[in-house]
Amino acid sequence: MEPPGTLIDCGLCVLRPWREADLSALVRHADDKDVARMLRDHFPHPYTVDAGRAWLLMAAIDDPPTALAIEVHGEAAGGIGIVPGADVHRHTGTIGYWLGRAFWGRGIATAAVGHFVPWAASTFGLVRFVAEVFATNPASMRVLEKCGFEREGVLRAHVYKDGRFIDEAIYGRILNGPRGPARPGPPDTNAVPSS
Ligand SMILES: CC(C)(COP(=O)(O)OP(=O)(O)OC[C@H]1O[C@@H](n2cnc3c(N)ncnc32)[C@H](O)[C@@H]1OP(=O)(O)O)[C@@H](O)C(=O)NCCC(=O)NCCS
Repeated sequence: MEPPGTLIDCGLCVLRPWREADLSALVRHADDKDVARMLRDHFPHPYTVDAGRAWLLMAAIDDPPTALAIEVHGEAAGGIGIVPGADVHRHTGTIGYWLGRAFWGRGIATAAVGHFVPWAASTFGLVRFVAEVFATNPASMRVLEKCGFEREGVLRAHVYKDGRFIDEAIYGRILNGPRGPARPGPPDTNAVPSS
C-alpha cells in the first residue's frame, strides 16, 4: 500500500508534498557539506532547524506543489522540484533534486527524476526539461543520462561556489521524442514578423 499523501509512486521511493512533520528528517539529511556543495547557495550549510522551517513554509505555498519530498521507508530522504519558466520559456522547466547521503547509490534519484518529469510535464504543461549541473558532479550527470537527458553544453566558469569558479553543464530532455514534438505547434497569431 502506498504511504499516505503519495503523489507519485516511483517504486524505490514515493514523491509527495513536504509536511511540517518532515522537519527533523529534513535537517538530518540536508545538513551535509557533501550535499550542499553540489547545490546553489540558496541551500544553506550548515542546514539549521530554522532553515528547515523556512523551507517547509515555502514548499507549502504552491498548489499544485512545485517542490516534493522524496520519501524512502517512511521518511523524507531528500527533495525534488521544478521551476516552470515564464514568457517564451513557459513550456520549459528547470529541475533540481538532492538526496541524503545515507540513501546514495541505490538508484533512488534516478527513480525520482524518471517519474517526476512526466508528472511535471502534464501538471505544468511543460515540454522541455533542463538541469544545471556543476562540472564536479558526475553522479548527477549519470542520473540525468539514465533518465533520457542529453548534455547540451557547458557554461564556463558559470558558477562561483565555495570560493572558486566552476563550469556548469546543461542537460536537457524534450518530451515526445529526442528532437522534440513530431509536429510543430499551431501558428502563433500574435507573432510579430521579424524584419
Ligand atoms: C546526485 C545524487 C542526487 C545522486 O543520487 P543517487 O540516488 O545516489 O543516484 P542513483 O543511485 O540513482 O545514480 C547515481 C549514478 O551515478 C553514478 N556515480 C556515482 N558517483 C559517481 C562518480 N563519482 N562518477 C561517476 N559516476 C558516479 C552511480 O554509479 C550511478 O550510476 P549507475 O547506476 O550507472 O551505476 C546524490 O548524490 C545527491 O543528492 N548529491 C548531492 C546533491 C546533488 O548533487 N544534487 C543534484 C544537483 S544537479
